[in-house]
Amino acid sequence: MPEKVAVYPGTFDPITLGHVSVVKRALIVFEKLIIAVAKDTQKNTFFSFEERFEMLKEVFSDEPRVEVMKFEGLLIDFMKRIGAKVILRGLRTVSDFEYEFQMALTNRKLDNSIETIFIMAEEQVSYFSSSLVREIAKLGGDISLLVPQPVIKWFERKLKR
Ligand code: COA
Repeated sequence: MPEKVAVYPGTFDPITLGHVSVVKRALIVFEKLIIAVAKDTQKNTFFSFEERFEMLKEVFSDEPRVEVMKFEGLLIDFMKRIGAKVILRGLRTVSDFEYEFQMALTNRKLDNSIETIFIMAEEQVSYFSSSLVREIAKLGGDISLLVPQPVIKWFERKLKR
C-alpha cells in the first residue's frame, strides 16, 4: 500500500463525535483512513454488525479519504490481508491508557511489523463514550450534541422496533 494509510478499528456502537474528532485529526497525518468495524468484540452490541457498518458509511459518505470496512477475527490478520501497517486509536483520558497499552503491545507481539499510533480527540468531546450515548438514547434523552447527525435516525429506527 503506497499511500500513508492507517486503520482505525473499533466497535463503534455507535460512533460518537469523539470518534469523528479522532478521524479528522488523523486525516492531517494520513492520506487515507480505513475505519474497520469489528464483528468480534467482547461487547454485546446494541447495533448489529451490519447496522454499525452501514451507519459509519453514511456518516463518512462525504469524505473520500475515509473508507469503511468490516472485519472478523484478529485485527492483525485483517491488516495483513489489506497490506496496512498502522493501527490508529484514539486516546481520551488516562483511564484509556491501560487498555490501549495492553492492546498495542499485544498486537505488536502478534505481528512486530505493525505499529499503533494514538491521536487525542479534541478536548470538547474527549469524555464522550458510546455506552453513555446508548443509555441516554434508550431513556429518551437528546444525543444530538454527542453523535453525528445520521446516528440519531439510526437510534430512532432501532428504538421504534
Ligand atoms: N471518542 C468517544 N469515545 C471513544 C473514543 C473517542 N475518541 N475512543 C474510544 N471511545 C470509547 C467508545 O465510545 C467505547 O465506549 P464504551 O466502552 O462506553 O462503549 C470505548 O471507548 C471503546 O470503543 P471503540 O472505540 O469502538 O473501540 P473498542 O475498544 O471497542 O475496539 C477493538 C476494540 C475492536 C479494536 C479490539 O477489540 C479488536 O481489535 N478486536 C478484534 C480481535 C482482536 O484482534 N483481538 C486482539 C486484540 S490485542
